Amino acid sequence: MSKEILVIGGAGFIGSHLVDKLLEKNHVVTVYDSLESQVHGNISTPPPYLSENIKFIKDDIRNQKELLKSLEDIEVIVNLAAMVGVGQSMYQIDKYVDINVLGTARLLDLLVNKPNDVRKVIVASSMSTYGEGAYLCEDCGEVNPELRKTPQLERGDWEMNCPICGKKAKPIPTDENKPQDCTSIYALTKKEQEKMSLLVGETYGINTTALRLFNVYGSRQSLSNPYTGVCAIFSSSLLCGNPPTIFEDGEQTRDFIHINDICQSFLLSMEKPLAKNEIFNVGAGKPISILNVAKKLAEYINPQIKPIITNQFRPGDIRHCVSDISKISSKLGFNPEYSFDDGMKELIQWVRLQEGKIEDKSSLALKELKNKGLLK
Ligand SMILES: NC(=O)c1ccc[n+]([C@@H]2O[C@H](COP(=O)([O-])OP(=O)(O)OC[C@H]3O[C@@H](n4cnc5c(N)ncnc54)[C@H](O)[C@@H]3O)[C@@H](O)[C@H]2O)c1
Ligand SMILES: [Zn+2]
Repeated sequence: MSKEILVIGGAGFIGSHLVDKLLEKNHVVTVYDSLESQVHGNISTPPPYLSENIKFIKDDIRNQKELLKSLEDIEVIVNLAAMVGVGQSMYQIDKYVDINVLGTARLLDLLVNKPNDVRKVIVASSMSTYGEGAYLCEDCGEVNPELRKTPQLERGDWEMNCPICGKKAKPIPTDENKPQDCTSIYALTKKEQEKMSLLVGETYGINTTALRLFNVYGSRQSLSNPYTGVCAIFSSSLLCGNPPTIFEDGEQTRDFIHINDICQSFLLSMEKPLAKNEIFNVGAGKPISILNVAKKLAEYINPQIKPIITNQFRPGDIRHCVSDISKISSKLGFNPEYSFDDGMKELIQWVRLQEGKIEDKSSLALKELKNKGLLK
């Protein structure tokens, strides 16, 4: 059945793809987005990739007056509006907390205090809220190590130790029960968004779902925003003829999931009753090393360029985190369809079309990190 859906932050990477899928299912969509200049450059109208078959409102999630107007007849809200740079959040603390936490608070405040028809809220949370992923020690069993300390990293000793016996620990898939141990302001704000949304949902009977997204990649991820998305950052460097810069030894792993699979998880969360008031990991469930990502992108975009492994490190960076997706698979029937290889091929086709349209701002972002003492 067709629904009226408000996608806040819907002009961005994930939002614009989700909008396409919602329209394919004949839903009526409103996008509410401030068109943050770090993501979109200085534009005042929606980006060209955003479907025209929607109602568009350019405004800030913190502007309660406009937000209230946009709620008219809305049954489902997808909340994607956020500042998304992990490193940047450590020196733009006020801005990140203001947009991510206060923005979501203002939305929830309206849902609780003003008449509306909203029956469903989906909030985009993040794998970053876990901090380090889960690990297994052969003697102590499953353990949750804290971040590696600076002296260990200065020795180039990158892998995690068991917090009980000190032996090397092996990464294992992280499920939703792993305690959240945020290691950045960004992660903390995502945890707050998630917790506030679920708390209000449970209290007031608004069916709410929090999706902990792992590392999403695909077309339309801002190539000009150097603060987010390692695939986008490496791609824009390569397109501009520069080598991707890799921290540590490149063997750190993440869970890369294709944007279409992410859209599947949002649609299931909207449609399936078992999604009510639940938290789900959304990943592909496979570890991919950062070096592997850089090599693959270089191979397709610019094979003459070799990634640079710097052995530098960012205090606060985690070593491994890969999703355990058994909960969303068994409860909602989620089944990621894209292999990393197929997904990368598709991404690269799109990246090629951006040649000449973007500049590589990654060295600027690195300089900023260095100046703030966030890169050693
Ligand atoms: N991309 C990922 O790998 C990933 C992983 C985990 C979680 N997430 C979450 O998913 C959501 C979408 O991320 P994305 O990758 O599409 O990022 P994005 O930057 O492409 O999209 C975010 C959108 O929100 C808008 N926005 C920012 N501040 C706003 C404000 N104050 N008011 C209204 N709109 C505002 C931006 O203009 C942008 O269009 C975010 O909440 C992010 O934290 C993303
Ligand atoms: Zn041990």
